[in-house]
Amino acid sequence: MNTKLAGIEPSLIRAIAAKKTPGAIDLGLGEPTLLPQMRFIEAATHWASEFGLKYTVNAGDLATRALIAAHYAYPGMTAAENVCLMTGSQEAVYVAIKTLLDPATEELLVVEPAFPAYLKMAQLEGIAARSVAMPAAAGFRYDVDAILAAIGPRTRLLVIGSPANPTGRVMTRADARRLARELGARGGPPIWILHDEIYRELTYADDAAQLGAEYPYTIAANSLSKSNALTGLRIGWAIAPSPAIEAIVKTHAWITSTASAFAQRVAYEIFSEPGALTEHSSWYARQRAGAVAALHASGLEFVEPDGAFYACVRLSRGTDSVAAALTLVEGRGVVAIPGRIFGPTLEGWLRLSFVAPLDAFTEGLRRIAAL
Ligand SMILES: Cc1ncc(COP(=O)(O)O)c(C=O)c1O
Repeated sequence: MNTKLAGIEPSLIRAIAAKKTPGAIDLGLGEPTLLPQMRFIEAATHWASEFGLKYTVNAGDLATRALIAAHYAYPGMTAAENVCLMTGSQEAVYVAIKTLLDPATEELLVVEPAFPAYLKMAQLEGIAARSVAMPAAAGFRYDVDAILAAIGPRTRLLVIGSPANPTGRVMTRADARRLARELGARGGPPIWILHDEIYRELTYADDAAQLGAEYPYTIAANSLSKSNALTGLRIGWAIAPSPAIEAIVKTHAWITSTASAFAQRVAYEIFSEPGALTEHSSWYARQRAGAVAALHASGLEFVEPDGAFYACVRLSRGTDSVAAALTLVEGRGVVAIPGRIFGPTLEGWLRLSFVAPLDAFTEGLRRIAAL
């Protein structure tokens, strides 16, 4: 047995979700409640009935990769060869961490509060990892000085989720430019940024940076999971400059060979239709507006989300977030995610998702405020 597994505790999110009672208000959801746009699934099915579902080249169908590269158009990453199709952005993130870092000498720096998988992936790979906390006092906004100060001699990769899961914060263009400038001025081997931009299509702020547009040593990871309500299809991608992308494809090839050919074809159909990636965005913007109004009315302290579909609310001082989430799920009929799982800086907070109907969201807030 791989001894590294012993140090990785089971997912607390799943443990809490397992306690959900019938009729409970579920504000723990990490996926859309919308249905996917079936025309793309049907078009892919039709294509499969004609051409079958065969292996593709390891990096994925060239025409699909060309569409994705052209859509995001990151400087130096605009060719089909700059894209590798993956089994969700989860694989893209994992493969990037595994590929970019030498476990013997190099280190990952996670900007926290963060999606818990980054640290677990590093742990599984035996890669040293540290976190740098974005200050609660500034509403968990990205703090470029704190990020720069946390970089050590072994740091070779930074992970930034923007919009962030769980806080919904986005990095502004000015901050991204300053980060890029400072990293570029350091000399020595480059420090890479892994931009997890899975919530990019669900951004409510006008000023949100795409790190791939600002910094040449960026790997962008994204998928159709959130933008197109296709979490179960498992299709995502990494976009990176050469020669990093070739190394990423090499790692990916030995792990999964190729992403699902059917899922790749669905991606082809979606990227072929202008606007298809953002067709759900206005629904999220309405949900977000309703959720923010309900949050203001609740009297709870909260982080106003710039993106994604989460809002973090603060528990009364000294309340343990795991204990609160257990009380809510066991006794109050509300599923909420304890902040602690996203890093120590979010202890004392809960993450709530606003993909639930707004009346349920509002009632959930009332029960949380009454704790
Ligand atoms: C921040 C973040 N990154 C990556 C993922 C992985 O998603 P997928 O593999 O479905 O693209 C998730 C899923 O919840 C997420 O929230």
